[in-house]
Amino acid sequence: MSVYQATASAPVNIACIKYWGKRDTKLILPTNSSLSVTLHQDHLRSTTTSRADPSFESDRLWLNGKEEDIKAGGRMATCIAEMKRLRKEEVEDKQPNEPKLSSYHVHIASFNNFPTAAGLASSASGFAALVSSLAQLYKLPVSPSTLSLIARQGSGSACRSLYGGFVAWEQGTRADGLDSLAVEVAPQSHWPEMHALICVVSDDKKGTSSTSGMQRTVETSTLLQHRIAHVVPKRMAAISAAIKARDFDAFAQITMADSNQFHAVALDTEPPIFYMNDVSRAIIALIVEYNRVSVEKGHGRKAAYTYDAGPNAVIYTLKENVKEIIELIVRYFPQAVGSFKDVFGLFGGVDVAQTGGKLVEGFNEAVAKKFEVGAVKGLIHTKVGDGPRALGAEESLLNASGQPKTL
Ligand code: DP6
Repeated sequence: MSVYQATASAPVNIACIKYWGKRDTKLILPTNSSLSVTLHQDHLRSTTTSRADPSFESDRLWLNGKEEDIKAGGRMATCIAEMKRLRKEEVEDKQPNEPKLSSYHVHIASFNNFPTAAGLASSASGFAALVSSLAQLYKLPVSPSTLSLIARQGSGSACRSLYGGFVAWEQGTRADGLDSLAVEVAPQSHWPEMHALICVVSDDKKGTSSTSGMQRTVETSTLLQHRIAHVVPKRMAAISAAIKARDFDAFAQITMADSNQFHAVALDTEPPIFYMNDVSRAIIALIVEYNRVSVEKGHGRKAAYTYDAGPNAVIYTLKENVKEIIELIVRYFPQAVGSFKDVFGLFGGVDVAQTGGKLVEGFNEAVAKKFEVGAVKGLIHTKVGDGPRALGAEESLLNASGQPKTL
């Protein structure tokens, strides 16, 4: 008996032009286009194995080893149903000899290599890995943009994880959503020096989810209407040009302005939504001062902060500046010994926690106060990466009987 199974991994992406607002909540069609950088899967990824088998009695899903309910009509069920429909239309109806996998139930196991407690959104990489593994299982002859139409219905931002490098989600105008998809702006190889430093900020309170927060913004914010009509279209064009020209100064200026405006429309929501906290704001002050010094020396901006629907900072910078920025962050946010994984070997075996943190010449130390150990509870250093990967059978997350392996 044949085993029909495939395993894929998919990356996380962090937006520079933020998606915030839906014009159709079922199809997940956005009120504005957005653009993100795909982060490297060597550091952050979701891995998913899918298997189709005539003996399975229902579609089942395990996330990090725990079974999740696939709610009828929910986002997960929609993605699985859409992938089965593509299998039927694109493969089985055209090649009658192909097995009718679309009529079998699936077992799906997914694993994130980063802790959910870190507060990093896993829905983007998770839905992208789900769609990629099913596309492989079903041998779908379709482009990543076509798959992005389906990942989008799992979580809007997931559609951008179908490509590596620099990715736009074009909002589209059609009511059926068929033109609301991800396109590659530039591949990873175009600007491999683009690095990212994720500052994991401690947060005990349960924040407002993106899904409900953005709907409240759509219903109550007048600033959002201005953003959609007058700001984002120009920024999409300008940041795409900056990426194509590898103009970091312009990339940084637009990225920071868009993060600021996203948090401004959150504040303009009734009742207001706050995602950043004192630590987030102190990191902004440090990056603003770091850029001021750099611009004064004639080098332009060297770092860009951006924040999603939570207090974590993502700092984009070019490879040559990462060490300086880590030292800056560590100076104000002391790290616990052994907490930083120096995956690029920047500190030659010396623990960052012991370095004390140097400041660049001319930096005004008074722009922020020094915080306690734990205020920034982790630093993750990564860079721009590739799109979803097809993995071999040895990476499977399901055992011989189609149950999740114990990891
Ligand atoms: C702030 O994609 O998580 O990260 O479509 O409702 O699942 P749903 O929302 P989601 O929202 C992401 C919002 C953001 C900005 C962005 O990634 O563009």
